[in-house]
Amino acid sequence: MKIIMLGAPGAGKGTQADRISKKYDIPHISTGDIFRENLRQGTPLGKQAKEYMDQGLLVPDELTCNLVVDRIAQDDAAEGYILDGFPRTVPQAEALTAALKERGEAVDFAIDVDVPDSFIMERMSGRRSCPKCGAGYHVVFLAPKQENICDQCGSELVQRDDDKPETVSKRLDVYHAQTQPLIEYYTAAGVLKTVDGTRKMDEVFEEIISILD
Ligand code: AP5
Ligand code: MG
Repeated sequence: MKIIMLGAPGAGKGTQADRISKKYDIPHISTGDIFRENLRQGTPLGKQAKEYMDQGLLVPDELTCNLVVDRIAQDDAAEGYILDGFPRTVPQAEALTAALKERGEAVDFAIDVDVPDSFIMERMSGRRSCPKCGAGYHVVFLAPKQENICDQCGSELVQRDDDKPETVSKRLDVYHAQTQPLIEYYTAAGVLKTVDGTRKMDEVFEEIISILD
């Protein structure tokens, strides 16, 4: 099963992709996570990506597409995967379609987690994540048992650099201009499914499962 998660920054793509990945035992491939991991390790890719991410802009397609095409060719992705944060532009979607077509494959589901802009600031400002194990939290909607400490590994939680209000607002503009057109692209491909992302995380997940099953 090859799944794409679409949706605005903070819509809950990562939250749902993580659950889908566990339930269906397929890898969760997040380009944002890959860039952040590269940055932590100080790689040239991480340093290049940071310049764009800090401004709320997209990393150029040529840095992004090859990375994903290589990643989905790895053994653990043979039975499928969930792409979170890719594609994000029409050229990226075209590159993915072409790479899959070469192998006689296609995307099975493009799930759009639909959340209006008015919800996004609250989601982003409360988001926390574990720098060690990657677990995600929200200070109100998914609070850790002990304040600012990861339930899973005990590390201190951090806030993402690009979750500052001014960067979030830029990311939203970029989303509407460059990523939203993919809704039309995947509608035309006959694989778009829209879920109401304003509901509780468990309810959103139930709706996604009912589509995938
Ligand atoms: P990326 O990391 O992909 O960020 P994003 O798309 O902006 O999305 P987020 O990760 O911020 O949000 P999310 O939808 O995953 O929400 P989450 O589940 O965390 O990309 C970062 C940057 O990398 C980009 O700006 C760009 O520069 C670069 N990049 C990445 N991919 C690229 C590409 N393909 N091309 C070019 N550049 C690329 O949820 C948010 C919060 O809300 C959490 O705290 C969560 O707990 C909470 N929450 C989730 N669901 C609910 C719910 N139903 N109710 C209440 N709270 C909820
Ligand atoms: Mg995410």
